[in-house]
Amino acid sequence: MSNQRRSFLGKLAVASAIPLVPSFLKPEANLDWISTYKNSSASTLALASGYDKSLVTDETFWYRIKNMYSSSPGVLNLNNGGVSPQPIIVQEAFERYNKLCNEAPSYYMWRILDQGREPLRQRLAELAGTSAEELAVVRNASEALETVIFGLRLNRGDKVVVSKLDYPNMMNAWKQREHRDGVVLKWVELDLPGMSNDKIVDAYAAQITPDVKVVHITHLINWNGHIVPSKQIADLAHKAGAQTIVDGAHSFAHIQYTIPDLGADYFGTSLHKWLCAPFGSGLLYVKKEHISMLYPHLASPDPESTDIRKFESLGTRSFAIEQAIGQAIDFHYSIGGQLKQERLQYLKKYWTDAVKDHPKIHINTDPHPDRSCALCIVNMDGYKPSELGEALQNKFKIHTTAIEYENVQGVRVTPHVYTVTADLDRLITALKSLADA
Ligand SMILES: Cc1ncc(COP(=O)(O)O)c(C=O)c1O
Repeated sequence: MSNQRRSFLGKLAVASAIPLVPSFLKPEANLDWISTYKNSSASTLALASGYDKSLVTDETFWYRIKNMYSSSPGVLNLNNGGVSPQPIIVQEAFERYNKLCNEAPSYYMWRILDQGREPLRQRLAELAGTSAEELAVVRNASEALETVIFGLRLNRGDKVVVSKLDYPNMMNAWKQREHRDGVVLKWVELDLPGMSNDKIVDAYAAQITPDVKVVHITHLINWNGHIVPSKQIADLAHKAGAQTIVDGAHSFAHIQYTIPDLGADYFGTSLHKWLCAPFGSGLLYVKKEHISMLYPHLASPDPESTDIRKFESLGTRSFAIEQAIGQAIDFHYSIGGQLKQERLQYLKKYWTDAVKDHPKIHINTDPHPDRSCALCIVNMDGYKPSELGEALQNKFKIHTTAIEYENVQGVRVTPHVYTVTADLDRLITALKSLADA
């Protein structure tokens, strides 16, 4: 073989070893118009936050974002707190990858798409503000958090602090450990809205005694949208020698932070919520120094390995779901986390301001931007939450969710980036007409 040819083949081998998804799998839809639009209205650019504040209220911009989704023109979906829809570029990426896998599954899944796992881990690490070596790609928040709950080495009598407003899947996991292993649960009672951050921290502090081994914190409470001061609670836990698990299912890619900001030893989230990634995608964070001592949920060759990948021994899974997370990250970045958060705050304020002075309508979420973002609950005199939810659905085709859980009562309303103010006008009219009937 000639030297020239050898060198050509050598280059080819290097190029083909680069672990990237092939270019024919890249999306056709492009996000360029967003950056063009952003730059073209840069007159009021807020230098501190690096984006144009006037975009927050620019309905033309948000209508164009809405057109990047395939939302129903009939049903107004204001239950984005349950799960988010995917922008069309994410749906298309998923479909492309899935079709490709079906051409020769073991080849395209395990030899081609699997090469995208490490670059994806790197991109998720940039988004989460962690090292890639601390992140595992899993299927949802339940899987991430239950991996931790069942993987921790706890003994009979060890104490764990949980709150009555933590998510049921995780509380069931803890109750199972209580039943099976004899760990002792200590319950924090939260009475929201109306508790300041200091009062919330005090409620946790009262339970964090020196015999506590783990404190479980839900960062953004799904029932009422309240943002809990995770870092302050985590600091207390660490001082007492306990570890912290943070449930970020509702806060990740919704409000701006990095995982280390929360003081989490372990963190789990779903990516099919606010990141708008395919259904069945999630993220587990384990602080580097804890990886070896945490057992994987599904066994891997070395349970004490320090490699975060031991939490990904799932067996055959959907590579299409996993790889299309990349398009969801692109979409998230194209809007920008700060602009997204401010728009969601604006939408919450838009509809709550319009109804809050009605004598029969009561907003039951703390509206302060540090204590809630898009999720907010509302009550109406004369209606149970389930009745109000039904009336919105049946009479106005507005989809929300009724919350009747512990001490939280209300209909939860959750707009998203594809919600425009005209959608919320429909909600405002509906609420007022029900209240005035
Ligand atoms: C606070 C919280 N944690 C965990 C979960 C579980 O998420 P998933 O069903 O995606 O596992 C949810 C789901 O709504 C949630 O609200």
